[in-house]
Amino acid sequence: MNILVTGGAGFIGSHTVVSLVAAGFNPIIVDDFSNSEKSVMLGLKEILGKEVPCHVIDCNNYLELRKVFHTEKIEGVIHFAAFKAVGESMKAPLAYYRNNLGSMLNLLDVMLAEGVKNMIFSSSCTVYGEPDELPVTEETPVKPAASVYGNTKRVGEEILRDVANANPLKIISLRYFNPIGAHPSAAIGELPLGVPSNLVPFVTQTAVGLRPSLTVFGDDYPTPDGTCIRDYIHVVDLAEAHVAALKYLMDNPENSLYDVFNIGTGQGNSVLELIKTFEAVSGQALNYTVGTRRDGDVTAVWGDVQKANKQLGWQAKLGLREALEDAWRWQKRL
Ligand code: UD1
Repeated sequence: MNILVTGGAGFIGSHTVVSLVAAGFNPIIVDDFSNSEKSVMLGLKEILGKEVPCHVIDCNNYLELRKVFHTEKIEGVIHFAAFKAVGESMKAPLAYYRNNLGSMLNLLDVMLAEGVKNMIFSSSCTVYGEPDELPVTEETPVKPAASVYGNTKRVGEEILRDVANANPLKIISLRYFNPIGAHPSAAIGELPLGVPSNLVPFVTQTAVGLRPSLTVFGDDYPTPDGTCIRDYIHVVDLAEAHVAALKYLMDNPENSLYDVFNIGTGQGNSVLELIKTFEAVSGQALNYTVGTRRDGDVTAVWGDVQKANKQLGWQAKLGLREALEDAWRWQKRL
């Protein structure tokens, strides 16, 4: 079964390609390589022992995208392709709305024109904002987004719900918590362009000496050690969740369906806990200082993942330690 993976050369996309192959699907990548590198394709070949078909196109291009659906006989779509930098999104809102929402609308048009029914969408726990209850369930109210990036996910979910209600489409939005780690082979992993804004690539780059020091963004939060709490999920577990969601859609006899699932570990860890675990894994002290809070950061968020567990039969198997071991192995190989 041929599955289109938009953004398949990205961090989560590339790991999902590996999981799809292991589950017997044929992934077909569409990526414009605007935020990923061609070397990812070599990493995939190293793991899979074969080339994965890859079309270098922008998902905003209707004719090119339709050609891929036609020639490759696509039966399902996993849609990752999007801009994802929170800070950048505040400076370039139009580019973010055009790219993240425009390409999704285009993709939906193509799916309807080609009669493709199944779609998994990359959403984010960012839709919960600063939650009033923890852990957050799928019933926890969605809050106004704190960033343009976050708003593209919130609005994206609403568009998908409305379009699935009115058409023969089956769509699942997966609300990811914080994806970290790398493939255990160290052949693929996270490849941030420039200075990383996410915690784990900053930690590993500091540990190899690419950055002089990590700044912990605030230790005066109302948490046990004063630093923010997140639900860090191994990217390999996250990739498996996409396969579970895809199988769930394909086995479901409904003509139209829209649903959302939290995809996390169900456990929260603070920034300092993550640093301590990294130091244990790498056997070296990390150079860090405590700075001021970062605008837009929420105090704490972790997920209740029972819905995915019960309905998709999925749960995270790997912990923070394994994720940091794999991220570290990947950084050393880089
Ligand atoms: C953010 C987005 C999330 C998005 C993810 C991937 C929000 C609220 N969250 O997650 O939707 O999917 O990025 O791009 O918009 N930290 C430091 N020092 C650093 C970097 C981070 O202390 O140099 C801390 C942060 O304050 C935070 C934690 O580490 O508490 C995780 O930060 P990060 O990896 O950037 O992810 P989020 O901001 O949680």
